[in-house]
Amino acid sequence: MKVLITAGPTREALDPMRFISNRSSGKMGYALAEAAVKAGHETVLVSGPCALTQPEGLAKFISVVSAADMAEAVKAEFPAADTAIMCAAVADYRPKKFSASKIKKSDDTLVIELERTEDILASLGKMKRADQKLIGFAAETDDMEKNAIGKLQRKNLDWIAANRLDLPGQGAESNTNTVILFSVKGEQVTIPLASKREVAEEILKITGVNESCKGNLSI
Ligand code: C5P
Repeated sequence: MKVLITAGPTREALDPMRFISNRSSGKMGYALAEAAVKAGHETVLVSGPCALTQPEGLAKFISVVSAADMAEAVKAEFPAADTAIMCAAVADYRPKKFSASKIKKSDDTLVIELERTEDILASLGKMKRADQKLIGFAAETDDMEKNAIGKLQRKNLDWIAANRLDLPGQGAESNTNTVILFSVKGEQVTIPLASKREVAEEILKITGVNESCKGNLSI
């Protein structure tokens, strides 16, 4: 099976020196890529800037910086994929104007106008064929279940993995995670706190990504 995964943050440049980004470490997406390779999938990883080593055995590794770069790479790869798992913490907004010269300090306050970036996952939801599986993530601080199910439906996903950002041992920079998986068919499965690698393997099993290549499974 061909699996496309996104990981890490994106960076939205303000000037040659500064950017807007977030605290995503890329660990969950890289763990998913490692688990997909281990399960025998032809795995493409599209990664924003992070400090992790590229997993071994990938079919392709595409390094991107901004949400626009990630959207371009992901939309080009998606038609050939059987499953896409969008784990990246894509910036929702980018500076409306990029300043080619470094912004100088002058007044006490500085107003930066931001504009929406493309919602890559929602774009894939519109492109998705009946034979493709689309899985998203929802990192939440409030109303996790309601928000996750809303995203599942709005973005035309098959599954969404929801996790809390405001509890210890889970979320952006942690080595461990706990997620609740919701499916479009109404299934709900909790993966208890474990290493991101173990959580990744469970996600692939529960969502059925590993079903079609059980012969290759070494877990
Ligand atoms: O709506 P929200 O940003 O919380 O949705 C999170 C999910 O959407 C994640 O799977 C993330 O990778 C994806 N996403 C995206 N492009 C964006 C924003 C989020 O693919 N611009």
